[in-house]
Amino acid sequence: MTEIAFHLNGAPVRISASSPTLTLLEWLRETRGLTGTKEGCNEGDCGACTVMVSDADGPKALNACILFLPQLHGKSVRTVEGLTAPDGTPHPAQEAMVAHHGSQCGFCTPGFVVAMATAHAQGRSDHDTALAGNLCRCTGYAPIIRAAQAVEDAPVPEWLRAEMGVASRATAEGSTLRPATSNDLAEWYVQNPDATLIAGATDVGLWVTKQLRDLAPVAFLGGIKDLQQITAEGHSLRVGAGVTINDLMGAVAAKLPSFAELLRRYASDQVRNAATIGGNIANGSPIGDGPPALIALGAGLHLRKGDTRREIPLEDFFIEYGKQDRQKGEFVEAVTFPTDAPNLRCYKLSKRFDQDISAVCGCFNVTLENGKVSAARIAFGGMAGTPKRAKGAEAALIGQPWSMETAQSARKALAHDFEPLSDMRASAAYRSAAAGNMMIRYFHDLSGLPVNLLEVAP
Ligand SMILES: Cc1cc2nc3c(=O)[nH]c(=O)nc-3n(C[C@H](O)[C@H](O)[C@H](O)COP(=O)(O)OP(=O)(O)OC[C@H]3O[C@@H](n4cnc5c(N)ncnc54)[C@H](O)[C@@H]3O)c2cc1C
Ligand code: FES
Ligand code: FES
Repeated sequence: MTEIAFHLNGAPVRISASSPTLTLLEWLRETRGLTGTKEGCNEGDCGACTVMVSDADGPKALNACILFLPQLHGKSVRTVEGLTAPDGTPHPAQEAMVAHHGSQCGFCTPGFVVAMATAHAQGRSDHDTALAGNLCRCTGYAPIIRAAQAVEDAPVPEWLRAEMGVASRATAEGSTLRPATSNDLAEWYVQNPDATLIAGATDVGLWVTKQLRDLAPVAFLGGIKDLQQITAEGHSLRVGAGVTINDLMGAVAAKLPSFAELLRRYASDQVRNAATIGGNIANGSPIGDGPPALIALGAGLHLRKGDTRREIPLEDFFIEYGKQDRQKGEFVEAVTFPTDAPNLRCYKLSKRFDQDISAVCGCFNVTLENGKVSAARIAFGGMAGTPKRAKGAEAALIGQPWSMETAQSARKALAHDFEPLSDMRASAAYRSAAAGNMMIRYFHDLSGLPVNLLEVAP
């Protein structure tokens, strides 16, 4: 039995969940009868299950379908039922959705309204980004965006302000299931090396909802504050494994804007609020978006087992598909990378602009001295069984003048660097052609030409 305490729609809840991997969505609908939170995809893709979760860092939108109850310990949850005031007054977002005809069949509407109310409480006006994780099959997005714009100037309702105060005062004590420090985790994990670590659960959640796997024993990393630190060390950043993709995006926005833009295209606001960079690396996915950018930057990976720590180049962590350089009982502690890389550019190709996994993700980082390439790091996702450097293309660049001719020879070399697979995202031939084209795109990009549709759109 697992004791979990949190606030639900303003009221304290203390429960003993029979399974540590019971999702919030299932619990809300089956146990509490709160069926306003919808089940659409049950895998984090559609936003129908969006809830507002607040803690000391403020409110965030999360997908309840891939959120396990222990991840809520010490936090405050608002479902669509709790957006309305106790006297029945609707939230301004609810009123605006009605006024702007933002709903037809209504299945997606509770999720949209919660995402909109959360973005409103955060003071945001980037509605396309904030709502990109919510899918609507019938209304069309224009009326929904109009509704979001209409709410911008409305004050945050009093009953939600009070909520954020409650969340900022809450404390969550540690336990075996939810270690409070990385020292506690290190000690426990050495003794339980076959356990499953759960950070944001944006992968692990699907093992439960789609593969119906029983994961016990598990440890939730969300309460380990020392894994959530971002520290500047000279021209480098040290980013703890527990830092979310949204927080990482904020940390790199000023110095590495192309990396930040890549992360903006990573899934949706709901997923980025949960997913961690440690999980994105540790899962070893060949199509994760974090590793190609980090490898192009020359990142170091910090691993820990018990009291023993080691640092390896991130690219060496990925041995082959499904195999990483991580021992039993060893976990990812942090990643470090330089931030003085003005020529870093990251390009993500996916079938949809938002909320889609990369077919090919290419990250390029050359150093130029007196018109010549003095160093080059190029890394791809989606081109092999692991995220991988394009060593042939790098060799074709180094020592050469930075010219279209050199870029073309690197493009040719790229063709020999990889033997990509065909799958539902892209054919091998498409991937090879797209990777080569990215090399040319990079040349134009550094020359100051617009290379992205968004740069030339009105
Ligand atoms: C709808 C949706 C869209 C997505 N879109 C993208 C996308 O655009 N780009 C992309 O790259 N990914 C995407 N993903 C995949 C997913 O978000 C990432 O892989 C994510 O970063 C995993 O991080 P997490 O914290 O959620 O990991 P979890 O699911 O908690 O864990 C993933 C794996 O890592 C292990 N793990 C976690 N933390 C540690 C640690 N510190 N040390 C050792 N092992 C650890 C876990 O045991 C597990 O094996 C998407 C996922 C969903 C559901
Ligand atoms: S049900 Fe689709 S994101 Fe949760
Ligand atoms: S109103 Fe029907 S799915 Fe959005």
